[in-house]
Amino acid sequence: MTILLLHGPNLDRLGKRQPEIYGTTTLADIQNRVADYARERGQEVDARQSNHEGQLVEWVHEAADNGWAVIVNAGALTHTSVALRDALAEIADGAGYVEVHLSNVYGREEFRHHSYLAAAARGVIAGLGVHGYFAAVDYFSHADPVL
Ligand code: DQA
Repeated sequence: MTILLLHGPNLDRLGKRQPEIYGTTTLADIQNRVADYARERGQEVDARQSNHEGQLVEWVHEAADNGWAVIVNAGALTHTSVALRDALAEIADGAGYVEVHLSNVYGREEFRHHSYLAAAARGVIAGLGVHGYFAAVDYFSHADPVL
């Protein structure tokens, strides 16, 4: 299976941006490590990042057309974007998507407690840093992820 690993705004700044919250690992490191982890489990990862909502929506459409699963850390768009939610609803009806956050958004400002993406996600992982992505890959690596 192909998994689209999608990152939203400002996540290209990982490693430099608020390391006390997000750690010192760069986005490239995360993408490489998650791709390696997935490959060892027979999965292909296509990793992309954009600061632009419309671009993310178009990539989700591409995933829907190709039947790909999605692991998404949408950054701040998690808390604002109905457009991304509507796009991901198509993935929910197909291979499914998992929402990941590096930080524990529930221990932070109140505006981060609401996610437009969470309801239709197979699951949400927050606060485990890079481990959250590995857990999401594990989920998609099982033949019947509901079991
Ligand atoms: C984040 C949490 C969001 O609230 C924030 O806007 C981000 C990163 C995380 O990975 O912890 O950009 O998605």
